[in-house]
Amino acid sequence: MDVLTVVGARPQFIKAFVVSRELRVEHDEVLVHTGQHYDEELSDVFFDELGLPEPDHNLGIGSESHATQTARMMVELEGLVEEYDPDVLLCYGDTNSTLAAAIVASKVDVELAHVEAGLRSFNREMPEEMNRILTDHASDVLFPPSDRAVRHLESEGITEGVYNVGDVMYDSLLWAREVAAERSTVHEDIGIGDEAYLLATVHRPRNTDDRDRLKTILAVLAADPREVVFPAHPRTINQLERYDLLETAESELTLIDPVGYLDFVTLQAGAEVIVTDSGGIQKEAFFLGVPCVTLREETEWVETVEAGGNVLVGADADAIAEALADPPRSSSDAEPYGDGTAGEKIVDVLDELSE
Ligand code: UD1
Ligand code: UDP
Repeated sequence: MDVLTVVGARPQFIKAFVVSRELRVEHDEVLVHTGQHYDEELSDVFFDELGLPEPDHNLGIGSESHATQTARMMVELEGLVEEYDPDVLLCYGDTNSTLAAAIVASKVDVELAHVEAGLRSFNREMPEEMNRILTDHASDVLFPPSDRAVRHLESEGITEGVYNVGDVMYDSLLWAREVAAERSTVHEDIGIGDEAYLLATVHRPRNTDDRDRLKTILAVLAADPREVVFPAHPRTINQLERYDLLETAESELTLIDPVGYLDFVTLQAGAEVIVTDSGGIQKEAFFLGVPCVTLREETEWVETVEAGGNVLVGADADAIAEALADPPRSSSDAEPYGDGTAGEKIVDVLDELSE
C-alpha cells in the first residue's frame, strides 16, 4: 500500500508519528509537510524528537489568509498526488492543511482517510469546525477517536467506512510520558523547583484576537499566587504586542517560547492546574489526571468535562479564578478515547481495505 500523508501544524506532527512508525513497517509512505508551521519550535523540534522521518516534501506555504494558504497548499498537493498516485491520502485533525488535502483528494482517484474524524464543537465561527465538517464529508475512511464522534458522523449521514480506533494522541502521550521522564530537563531549564505552578497556553483566535478577552485572561493568571508557566504560540506573542500587553505578560508570567513535546508533557505532568484553549492539551491533561481549566465556551472533547477533570470557563474572570481556586477533579476512570493502540489499528484497517 502506498500512502501519502499530509501534515502541517504542530499537533499534526504529534498525531502522525504514531501512525507513521506502524505504517512504515510494511508499507510505503510519502510524508508531505505543507509548511503551515515553520518556526523551529513549532516544527523541526518535533521531527527531531519524535523520530518522525524528515518530510519528503516541504511545500513551504507559511502564514497567509485562510483562502490563500489553503489554495496554495491545494495547488502543490494536487501535483504531488498526480506524481505519486498513492492508494491512500492520509490527513489529520482540523487545520487548513487538513482541508487542503481533503479537497484535493476528493477530486482524484485516491481514498481519503481522516484521523480524528467526527469531532464537533458546534461552533461554526471556529475555522476548525468548517475544516472538520468538510473533511469528514469528503472522506472515504474515517477514524473517529470516540463513540460520541461516531454518533456525530451518524447524525450527518456518514456511516460507511467509519472505524473507532481510539485517539492517536493517547498513543503519543503513552510514549512521551516514558521517554520524557528520562530525557526532559525542562524544569531545571526554566528554573522550576518543587513549588506548585500553573501551565497556561492560549492560541485560539477567539482569545488572541480580542483584546478584552486576552487582557482578562492575563489579569486572572497574573493574580494567581502560583507561578504561571506560559509557553506562547507566535500568534499570541504577535497579538500581545499589538494590544500593548506584552510587557505586562513578560513581567507577570513566566513567558517562554513554545517547547518540544517531551518538555511540554513534562510541564503538564508537573503542573498543579493546566489552563488552556488548546484541543490537544485538554486531552493530555485528562490522560495525565491533571485538572484542566478551559478558556472556551464549548469543547469537542466533552468526555473530559463529563469525567469531572475539565471545566469550561470562557474568558470570564470570576469563573477562571473560581476554577483555579478549586480545580476540577476527575471522578471517573472511564477511558473514552481507546486503549492507546490507535496507530496500529489505523494501519490494520487501511491494510485490509487496500487488499
Ligand atoms: C493552526 C490551526 C489550529 C491549530 C494550531 C495548532 C488553522 C486554521 N488553525 O492555528 O487549528 O490549533 O495551528 O498550533 O489551520 N506563526 C509563526 N510561525 C509559525 C506559524 C505561525 O509566527 O511557524 C504565526 C503567524 O503570524 C501566523 C499565525 O502564527 O499568521 C497563525 O498561524 P496559523 O498556522 O495560520 O494558525 P495557528 O494559530 O497556528
Ligand atoms: N505542545 C508542545 N509544546 C508547546 C505547546 C503544546 O509540544 O509549547 C503540544 C501539546 O503537548 C499537544 C499539542 O502541542 O500535543 C497541542 O497543540 P496546539 O495546542 O498547538 O493545537 P490544538 O491541539 O489546539 O489544535
